[in-house]
Amino acid sequence: MKKAAAIEALKFVKPGMKIGLGTGSTANHFIEALSVKVKEGLNILGVPTSRASKDLAEKLGITLTNLDAQARIDLTVDGTDEFDSELRLIKGGGGALLFEKIVASSSRTMIVIADESKKVKKLGKFPLPVEINRFGTTATAAKIERVFAHLKLDAKLVLRLRDGKPFVTDGGHFIIDCTIGAIPEPQKLDVLLRSIPGVVETGLFIGLCNIVLMGTPKGVKEFKRG
Ligand code: 5RP
Repeated sequence: MKKAAAIEALKFVKPGMKIGLGTGSTANHFIEALSVKVKEGLNILGVPTSRASKDLAEKLGITLTNLDAQARIDLTVDGTDEFDSELRLIKGGGGALLFEKIVASSSRTMIVIADESKKVKKLGKFPLPVEINRFGTTATAAKIERVFAHLKLDAKLVLRLRDGKPFVTDGGHFIIDCTIGAIPEPQKLDVLLRSIPGVVETGLFIGLCNIVLMGTPKGVKEFKRG
């Protein structure tokens, strides 16, 4: 289903485009499908959202550029951990949320590719990743907890680990995963969390995604933001 959605996304790719390359297993399907078109002669430039997507795209022969070389790009195709009916997202399960958000917000169009498991009635089934600076982690975590208490949300915070050590993002930060349950006001939560000194970014993507392509056993369904 993820691969079917990735292949459908190729329909939005035009010669000469600069294309943001997302991170994760679904985005990898897109990078692979795009590389086949490149081998057939399609001329595009890729803008990776992580070291992992950069390595894969380079290995598959996609020519890359970055947001130091240009401020705006045409299209980003990325996966998600969740999306709701307003095409609001929770992303960052793979830890690339900061670079993914920078690239998506620099794109004329953001397309999310997903399978049906990613569609939710209310955001919050998936723990919300919050990327924080490594300086003062305990103090920042306490402020994050205060935001949840203020919103009367019962959240459980966990510092993301890899091999027993704190996971470090490509930007050199830590991630706190916040298990919340249904989030009543995602935008308000996002604004409050991002106002904390030490919070670098949240995994809430609001007003960024234009189209979701969702692979289903009956074909790929398209959702557009109104
Ligand atoms: C990485 C992400 C991914 O897009 C998200 O975790 C979905 O991954 P997958 O396609 O492997 O299910 O946000 O930071």
